[in-house]
Amino acid sequence: MPRILDGAAIAAAIKQEVAEEVKRLGAQGIRPGLAAVLVGHVPASEIYVRSKVQTCAELGLYSDLITPEDTITTEEMLELVMGLNDRDDVDGILIQLPLPKQVDAKALLDQVDPAKDVDGFHPVNAGRLLAGRPALAPCTPAGVIEILKRSEIPIAGAHAVVLGRSDIVGKPVAMLLLHQNATVTICHSKTRDLPAVTREADILVAAIGRAGFVTPEMVKPGATVIDVGINRIATREEFERFFKGDAKREAAFEKRGSTLVGDVHPQAYAMAGAYTPVPGGVGPLTIVMLMANTVRAAKMRRGL
Ligand code: GUN
Repeated sequence: MPRILDGAAIAAAIKQEVAEEVKRLGAQGIRPGLAAVLVGHVPASEIYVRSKVQTCAELGLYSDLITPEDTITTEEMLELVMGLNDRDDVDGILIQLPLPKQVDAKALLDQVDPAKDVDGFHPVNAGRLLAGRPALAPCTPAGVIEILKRSEIPIAGAHAVVLGRSDIVGKPVAMLLLHQNATVTICHSKTRDLPAVTREADILVAAIGRAGFVTPEMVKPGATVIDVGINRIATREEFERFFKGDAKREAAFEKRGSTLVGDVHPQAYAMAGAYTPVPGGVGPLTIVMLMANTVRAAKMRRGL
């Protein structure tokens, strides 16, 4: 039976460490603060941001939730961000994506002070990460590394295959794995004979955003599989494709009308030596790494 890498337990341990650091900073009169910008009413974004703000409160961070209407213009958003850059009580700025289509997201993310860029999306932080300099790294990739390290999965010398080349997950996680001395391959939609490449992976990171894309024949027996995907499925047909015969899932699906599946087909987990489940794997790390980045930004800004 493969080992299940419990993201919730790892996140809880990091939360405790962050809370202790926040307490130490508090004794020096410093309270790290996060400004969360949630534009409009995208249901998934509302859930994520609420959870981020709630975690701030739990760990003793200050937070300010800013909720512009979805009619906001790029210029108004730029002004908002410049205001946050100037505020001394704000150490981290989070602009929840996606943004309405009239807003130029790239222009906006470029405007965030790199010192407050707790999502690690600014090109300056991407460049620092590439150059191996101290940087605020994107939260999900940072969480992947924490899971591997705290689960004592060897990274140095391992062949890590990253499935997906997004700026938010694929590219930065590949860079972080390289910094940990993995041999890294990045795959994407144009990769030839993908299963042959992924089957070489000691560590397989799936981050392509396609439900159950990784099938059993794509996994080397005993590999560590990190499933970054969070895909909601709501039809009976999809449910049967992924979870046929799973009574516990079925009950949950019946109750809620939907369930979550990763980028890895549940049958492919069975090939692994260890894997992160969905939900309860990488997901819980993302928010806690945002908190860790905010505390780090607060310290760096004060030269600590
Ligand atoms: N939307 C989905 N994931 C993320 C994230 O990690 N950060 C931000 N800002 N928006 C997101």
